[in-house]
Amino acid sequence: MPAIAAYAPGKIILTGEHAVVYGQPAIAAPVEEVRARAGIEANPTEPDGKINIIAPDIGLDTSLDALPLEHPIATVFREVRQELGLDHLPAMTLNITSTIPIAAGLGSGAAISVAVSRALSSFLGSPLSDEVVSRIAFETDRFYHGTPSGIDNSVISYGRMIYFMRGGPLEILTNAETLTLVIADSGEKSLTGKVVHGLRTRIELDPQRYDPILEKIGVVSFSARQAIEKGDPAGLGNLLNDNHSLLQQLGVSSANLDLLVRIAREAGALGAKLSGAGCGGNMIALVEPDNAQAVAAALLSAGAVNAIFTTIPQS
Ligand code: MEV
Repeated sequence: MPAIAAYAPGKIILTGEHAVVYGQPAIAAPVEEVRARAGIEANPTEPDGKINIIAPDIGLDTSLDALPLEHPIATVFREVRQELGLDHLPAMTLNITSTIPIAAGLGSGAAISVAVSRALSSFLGSPLSDEVVSRIAFETDRFYHGTPSGIDNSVISYGRMIYFMRGGPLEILTNAETLTLVIADSGEKSLTGKVVHGLRTRIELDPQRYDPILEKIGVVSFSARQAIEKGDPAGLGNLLNDNHSLLQQLGVSSANLDLLVRIAREAGALGAKLSGAGCGGNMIALVEPDNAQAVAAALLSAGAVNAIFTTIPQS
């Protein structure tokens, strides 16, 4: 069997994180500038079923048997095997590397699951469809937090900007104008499961306070879709700003994220907000292309630990 490599991008949430868990729409886009890679090669001298896993970025150097059943990588192997109807697997070594920062809101967990599903199914001679790969990544996301909406696995598997509603059909968005974004890392780690769980507790204690905020975020996503489809980056920027205020009201921002969002706007961004689970991780700023460098420089001098550029192409 030839060696195989497969990749998956990172992601940003443009609007609607958290509210999407409660049935509101959200918009997400892939970030091709960072990616996870899964490489597989056969180990013909090892006995059948001996699977080595080397993943330095997530601290793994082990064999599949040694992983807990609910571990995301173990889940991917089980799901791919079931999907392909295989009783046993040939001996192999799986190498995982990733340039997607971990616990930073950029979808590193889902991207690893997608890359491994693709590499494993191709290695076994039956590459799985985006739909099945997305379903498998959804299963593994449950490990990170019990109630994923499904947006991360969807945007990463399909690799296109999507308008997503839990349980609804997946909609690929058309984009009237190429969008340029700066993505800056606050340097604070953010565990999605913890942030989602904390918010759930607050909502359950005081639904009258939080439900209207979730609904307003849904309206922001609906309007952002229109701004994207008709090519109104300034309008979209304002909606990102509105979304950030609503996320602050949900209690999922942080002092560092608020600072970076303010600095980006002062440096001329059309709009800025946290992206992903929040309470740390990354923020995004929508910028004019010729202002991208200046916004990134301002963010870095205000304490961002990293800044990258991405574009969402016209489509
Ligand atoms: C995380 O990227 C997005 C959240 O809305 C969680 C989810 O949708 O599953 C915070």
